[in-house]
Amino acid sequence: MVRTYKAVEVSAPEVLRVAERPITEPGPGQVRIRVEACGICHTDAATVMGAYPGLTLPRVPGHEVVGRVEALGSGVAKWKIGQRVGVGLIAGEDGICEPCRRGDMVNCQNPVTLGVTVDGGYAEVMIAESRALASIPDELNSAEAAPLLCAGITTYNALRNAGLRGGDLVAVQGIGGLGHLGIQFARHMGFHTVALGRGGDKEKLAKDLGAHLYIDTANDDAAAALQRMGGARAILATAPSGDGMGPLVSGLAVRGKLIIVGVPQDQIQLNAFPLVFGGRSIYGSLTGTAIEQEDTLAFSILENIRPMIETVPLEQAADAYARMMQGKARFRMVLVTKDVKS
Ligand SMILES: NC(=O)c1ccc[n+]([C@@H]2O[C@H](COP(=O)([O-])OP(=O)(O)OC[C@H]3O[C@@H](n4cnc5c(N)ncnc54)[C@H](OP(=O)(O)O)[C@@H]3O)[C@@H](O)[C@H]2O)c1
Ligand SMILES: [Zn+2]
Ligand SMILES: [Zn+2]
Repeated sequence: MVRTYKAVEVSAPEVLRVAERPITEPGPGQVRIRVEACGICHTDAATVMGAYPGLTLPRVPGHEVVGRVEALGSGVAKWKIGQRVGVGLIAGEDGICEPCRRGDMVNCQNPVTLGVTVDGGYAEVMIAESRALASIPDELNSAEAAPLLCAGITTYNALRNAGLRGGDLVAVQGIGGLGHLGIQFARHMGFHTVALGRGGDKEKLAKDLGAHLYIDTANDDAAAALQRMGGARAILATAPSGDGMGPLVSGLAVRGKLIIVGVPQDQIQLNAFPLVFGGRSIYGSLTGTAIEQEDTLAFSILENIRPMIETVPLEQAADAYARMMQGKARFRMVLVTKDVKS
């Protein structure tokens, strides 16, 4: 008898449907994971809309995956059956392209991309490359660990690699899955932390998460407000809005950095004047590697940082995805396949 598992796949653009699939054995260097939790990241929209370059359908989205190893392919020595592991977006580098050969695995030019080139974690079972696994510490349950594997590492890495110093004025724009973790990381790294959101409804939440100040970008000129405080050393832009990002350059201090982690559909319009006069810069940052995921988890435990999550059963993935897209998630929807505490 063929054993099967339940998965939620994108069968056509914008269609998420529950499917029954045959369980397969992991190939050399791979493991099979019994998924316990998978966060719903805004990047999943590129799979659901069928827009990710190189994507073919049907495809199972999901790249904030935590589960237990249930089968080992040949040559897998580091991981054991029953061990709890996680996988993120860049789920295996090719090891041979120029960035890989220079040790810059996250920028691999031919990566295994979870939920894009291979099936992801909106499922009961998933095959993963063992070299891309992160170990999940006991202090974190699966549902709260999952968002740290993309939303968490993306904001954590961007902030810790930005050359900042304790006390620097740092703003986090966009208070969603990424942003609500970015605020916590910025605060716990010792920065003067400003949250930039649109509307007043997230002010209290942002302050509860650790923001010293909240600026409502719908009513206030965020760049002017930041300049009155001396200018931000860095602004971490997470909101998927090019319109919202461009003007922020004017809120930076001299030599300040606008770090782009959100990936808007629209263009970012930039004024060269504040870039040139003041040596300000703008650059992007892409998630991170498995060992950096372990760093993110360790820092989160150390500083008692947790994602705010709403858990839903796997079968309700389409509704949970819609809730995220409507900006209603507080702050991360997490699909669970069994009773995991939230
Ligand atoms: N660089 C990477 O490696 C990486 C990793 C993961 C995700 N991403 C990208 O990061 C972006 C955010 O992902 P996410 O999962 O955090 O999405 P999310 O949970 O949907 O959050 C996005 C937030 O941005 C806010 N927002 C939208 N437009 C805004 C504006 N003009 N001003 C202020 N806030 C605005 C939304 O708030 P309201 O709508 O409630 O106002 C929402 O809370 C996506 O583009 C995603 O693809 C990149
Ligand atoms: Zn993601
Ligand atoms: Zn490579």
